[in-house]
Amino acid sequence: MRSLCIYSYRPPSEYEISTIPTPKITLPNRVLVKVAAGSINPADMEQARGDFKMAVTLPIPHKLGLDISGTVIAVGKSVKELKIGDEVFGFLPFPMDTCGMSEYAVATELMLVLKPKGISHVEAASLGYVALTALQCFEKMELEGGVEDKTVLITSVGGMGSIACQMAKNIFGAAKVITTVSTEKVGKVDKLSGNGVVDRIIDYKKTDLVKEIPMLPHGSVGFMIDSTHQDLKCGLMRGN
Ligand SMILES: NC(=O)c1ccc[n+]([C@@H]2O[C@H](COP(=O)([O-])OP(=O)(O)OC[C@H]3O[C@@H](n4cnc5c(N)ncnc54)[C@H](OP(=O)(O)O)[C@@H]3O)[C@@H](O)[C@H]2O)c1
Repeated sequence: MRSLCIYSYRPPSEYEISTIPTPKITLPNRVLVKVAAGSINPADMEQARGDFKMAVTLPIPHKLGLDISGTVIAVGKSVKELKIGDEVFGFLPFPMDTCGMSEYAVATELMLVLKPKGISHVEAASLGYVALTALQCFEKMELEGGVEDKTVLITSVGGMGSIACQMAKNIFGAAKVITTVSTEKVGKVDKLSGNGVVDRIIDYKKTDLVKEIPMLPHGSVGFMIDSTHQDLKCGLMRGN
């Protein structure tokens, strides 16, 4: 099969499309998917440039692509919920067994769900890891009282931030969602996160967030998710 690979740590301009053996199911809980769409996650590029090499030795060639959407073409013996022909989306075992940018991929059953009919494979392939990450944030917040009826500050409408904004308002019942974006994205927030999901937009190019966010009225923001790559040092925002 064709697969987007690296043979040593590389930047995106040096990723290669190689012909490699089609993967097979070797464990009972695995599912073989014919990939219709995959997506490139920032973690793919971090891994490919060697950011995790102190912790993980990648098999060579390393196949890129954490997230997939496609059709099940074979299932392992212990797979219960999925069957051949199901349209599914989800993510692949990170960091070792990714290969979303390939014609075929092997995932565990638990990492896949049925694709809703209303979304395309391309849309579904963008969701796996970012949705999981956002969900983990909300699960942690649930342990501390949850976001229901509170204001949540989510500091981007990037990959993770855009889905976190939607989860905050549409699933976990946040009363108000505040986000921060660059000037160029101010007019695109509804398109990126859904109409009416975000209640207040702060332009971080015109405002110093590290100073601005702590100026929000004390106790007015229940939780904050830093969904940038910047590790914003905005102080403790819990208050409700
Ligand atoms: N993607 C995943 O599956 C995943 C998994 C685990 C953890 N994470 C973590 O989640 C965070 C976000 O990842 P992502 O994949 O969503 O990244 P992303 O799609 O690249 O989005 C990052 C966002 O940060 C915004 N940003 C950049 N500089 C900023 C600044 N100085 N102030 C405010 N906003 C700024 C950008 O907004 P503009 O475009 O408007 O500049 C961009 O939308 C990272 O810390 C990442 O490590 C992500």
